Amino acid sequence: MLIVGVNGSPRVDGNTEFALGYALEQVKSKGIEIETINLRDHELRYCQGCFACRNGTCVHDDEMKDLLPLLEKCDGLILASPVYMGMVTSQMKTFMDRSVILRVNGFKLSGKIGGGIACGGFRNGGQELTLQNMQTFFLQQDMMAVSDGPRFSHSGAAIVATAAEDEVGLRTVKHLADRLCKGVSDLSN
Ligand SMILES: Cc1cc2nc3c(=O)[nH]c(=O)nc-3n(C[C@H](O)[C@H](O)[C@H](O)COP(=O)(O)O)c2cc1C
Repeated sequence: MLIVGVNGSPRVDGNTEFALGYALEQVKSKGIEIETINLRDHELRYCQGCFACRNGTCVHDDEMKDLLPLLEKCDGLILASPVYMGMVTSQMKTFMDRSVILRVNGFKLSGKIGGGIACGGFRNGGQELTLQNMQTFFLQQDMMAVSDGPRFSHSGAAIVATAAEDEVGLRTVKHLADRLCKGVSDLSN
């Protein structure tokens, strides 16, 4: 079993990196393999909407082609993004758009489990909308979106301000990771 975490923050050692690392440590402690993709390390061009990908190949010969096999291989996906202007970052949006190639070529992510982590500077800064951006992506890829699990079961994991100091937020991250692990394990049985 493999869970891939995608970090949409341009900042090294930022809150998103911390929160995603916290989630993936939780995943690893359950014996599930993990991989991290830091989008800032990859050159991704914007989707240009030509739908050349319907023939199986994107017109952009860039690093997205290195990320796609990992997406196809994983059982679960965590998308983690800072909140920028109430939404996911442009890095995350570009990644989402470019993954359309997996959708138009037979829904290659179909049935995989997805969960979201949103890190904002302020309470009510747009974490919920950012999580909804991610959930919409999961649904459009025919994936299954999870919440932060029973007892709480809200939109996913939400961090306010400094992730390392946000005890409540980190609890939502842990619960999201637990729920994702359960989903992935249930599917493999
Ligand atoms: C361009 C920009 C827009 C932002 N917009 C919001 C926002 O709408 N709501 C919010 O709560 N925080 C906003 N922030 C703050 C970041 O979401 C916050 O600092 C976050 O922790 C950054 O994550 P990082 O440390 O992983 O980069 C914004 C920051 C930037 C740079």
